[in-house]
Amino acid sequence: MAEGFFLTFEGLDGSGKSTQLRKLAAHLEAQGLAVTVTRQPGGTRIGDRVRGLLLDSKTEHLDAMTELGLMFSDRAQCIAEVIAPALHGGNVVLCDRFTDSTEAYQGGGRQLGSEVVLRMHKLMCGGLHPDLTILLLAGFDKSLHRARRRNDRTAPADLDEGRFEREDQEFHRRVHDKYREIAARDSHRVVIIDGDRPIEAIHRLITATVDEKLRRAGLLPRLPAAGVR
Ligand code: TMP
Repeated sequence: MAEGFFLTFEGLDGSGKSTQLRKLAAHLEAQGLAVTVTRQPGGTRIGDRVRGLLLDSKTEHLDAMTELGLMFSDRAQCIAEVIAPALHGGNVVLCDRFTDSTEAYQGGGRQLGSEVVLRMHKLMCGGLHPDLTILLLAGFDKSLHRARRRNDRTAPADLDEGRFEREDQEFHRRVHDKYREIAARDSHRVVIIDGDRPIEAIHRLITATVDEKLRRAGLLPRLPAAGVR
């Protein structure tokens, strides 16, 4: 399907992935690449409405399967409206979360298991898989603390996106473990980066990994071989 390059960012809440995604987008644009940035849930007008329902702490009694279905409804809309057209146009697409989040949060956190998530992915995402996934894994306690603090500080009174961040430690531990399981299973696609390093050090690691993949995909020029003039 894809002619461009599809890159996803994953991690626990508060892992710093959104900051890194923005910095990577600027780095790639500076090299002349056409970059499309999107996120899940959200990224489209319909998706933003679904996001409101999913993340609002005031949403109560949402069944785990309903939550799973809403995540995939949002994703199908984002693929149709944003991701597929951008890839067909040859863009590098940077997506803040994708199906690995559903496997980690609904499959692991909500204990629905991986199988139902992967089956829904097949049905609703038309065989689209990331070319590369950057998984930012910071120390577990630190991420959780950062996520809760961030939500308290940044959310305006009428927008409280903390429904997942308020889940207990066990939930987040299961999300963390599932991410590790996904990375071990899909090691050809998923690169784990230690999110406890300073922001600039993480950025350098990410750009080195991504630039190399884009050179291999023919989207960036190859570096001259060492010693060749
Ligand atoms: P974020 O946009 O700040 O990363 O927050 C999105 C939240 O939604 C985060 O807590 C993870 C959760 N989420 C899921 O539970 N399943 C999913 O499939 C996705 C995309 C996100």
